[in-house]
Amino acid sequence: MVLNIIGIGLGDEKDITLKGFELVKKSDIVYLENYTSKLNCDVSKLEKLYGKKIILANRNLVENKTEIVDNAVKKDVSLLIIGDVFGATTHIDIVQRAREKKIKINIVHNTSIINAVGETGLSLYKFGRVTSIPFDNKDIVSPIKVFEENSQIELHTLFLLDLRPDENKFMSVNEAIEYLLKNKVDENKMAVACCAMGSDKQIIKYGKLKELKYKKFDVYPQCLIIPGKMHFMEEEFLEFYKL
Ligand SMILES: C[S@@+](CC[C@H](N)C(=O)[O-])C[C@H]1O[C@@H](n2cnc3c(N)ncnc32)[C@H](O)[C@@H]1O
Repeated sequence: MVLNIIGIGLGDEKDITLKGFELVKKSDIVYLENYTSKLNCDVSKLEKLYGKKIILANRNLVENKTEIVDNAVKKDVSLLIIGDVFGATTHIDIVQRAREKKIKINIVHNTSIINAVGETGLSLYKFGRVTSIPFDNKDIVSPIKVFEENSQIELHTLFLLDLRPDENKFMSVNEAIEYLLKNKVDENKMAVACCAMGSDKQIIKYGKLKELKYKKFDVYPQCLIIPGKMHFMEEEFLEFYKL
């Protein structure tokens, strides 16, 4: 019948849009994709507000199995995505598979970490390629390459940090900085730590990599930005977050 793919924002159960909420209310089956990000509330809060049982969908269920798309042939199915639907690289594929089966699809957008970082004051228009630092990063150089390429053309770099929500494992800004320093990024570079953005526990801190490295941030998920060339307005805005 229909597959609704609904971004539910970054913070908690109340960040869903009215459009998304109404589609969830009408759904026979509701899944929550829970491997590319983490909300700052329990799933029970979503179930209570939406009045629906929520099935947690891991990578295998979303990307390999046909269950979600098959169910949408006969029923109204909603797949909830933390942040925005297309804020992670993986959700194009399920849309494509549903299209092939001629299933009606509704996409409902929401805030992503990709635009929430605008609250740092850094212009979203001046970010270069986004890169991710994986847990197993011993021989991984691509985040450093992306950073160097962005820096050469004076653009800001957003580093997303690995996470395994099913194991309650999240990479911290400190671990990310350790990786950058090991790969010869200058410890005096200024950077911005962004933690649990969009939630009421949100933390933004601005400082040198060598200072941020020792600061403990205990709310997740986290990401890190190294600014490129800044306009004086961006610099002034960031002063508010200085360590
Ligand atoms: C695949 S991306 C985000 C996907 C999500 N669909 C979105 O649109 O925001 C996941 C990574 O983004 C970062 N991230 C996501 N939400 C965050 C938040 N609220 N605060 C800080 N970083 C966040 C973390 O580094 C996390 O590992």
